[in-house]
Amino acid sequence: MIVAIDGPAGAGKSTVARALATRLGFRYLDTGAMYRALTWLALERGVGFDDGSALGALAEASPITFDADHVSIDGQDVTEAIRRPDIDRVVSSVARHREVREVMRDRQRELAEQGDAVIEGRDIGTVVCPHADVKVYLVADSAERARRRVAERPEIGAEALATDLRLRDERDAAQMQPAADAQTIDTTELDIEGVVDSIERLVRERASATK
Ligand code: C5P
Repeated sequence: MIVAIDGPAGAGKSTVARALATRLGFRYLDTGAMYRALTWLALERGVGFDDGSALGALAEASPITFDADHVSIDGQDVTEAIRRPDIDRVVSSVARHREVREVMRDRQRELAEQGDAVIEGRDIGTVVCPHADVKVYLVADSAERARRRVAERPEIGAEALATDLRLRDERDAAQMQPAADAQTIDTTELDIEGVVDSIERLVRERASATK
């Protein structure tokens, strides 16, 4: 079974998807980490963010692997490096290219085909796994999303983080539509457990409906 969890940064995707995967005993796949890893490598290699075909070729040539909580690209562990604020600021410029998205989509589909998984991203329910068994689109109001980011990146000012988030939303808008059949959950006033409980219910309902 595939559970797709999409939505903007700060809506709670990672925390919820991780906790849900643990509860269900499913694999957890963070597709944002794949775009972040490619962005890190492009910075390292000096590949321009406007050059879609060079970025696509770099993606094609650079396997990304997940091992427990670690992500590596081209054999280098980038788990911590990809959470840097300079990556936050430019990842959308890499992710917007068709050439990059095609490579990522195919890799993500291959990973999805390996069995039960909770997959988080922006376009999982629409593009990567349009036949996902359960589709959820998490949202939260922008002040709450910015507040959560401040907790994750205490070294950066609240105002700068709110601006970064707004710019990233604008750049990601093209791949940030909820699937028509996704269940939207507003996490602004909900706690993690509550959100995970409601998605788990959807999963159990779906599992018994398809038995
Ligand atoms: O989820 P996270 O904030 O780590 O994603 C980082 C960036 O990767 C997003 O801002 C977006 O540009 C890109 N992304 C994407 N499609 C996905 C997942 C992430 O374009 N499925």
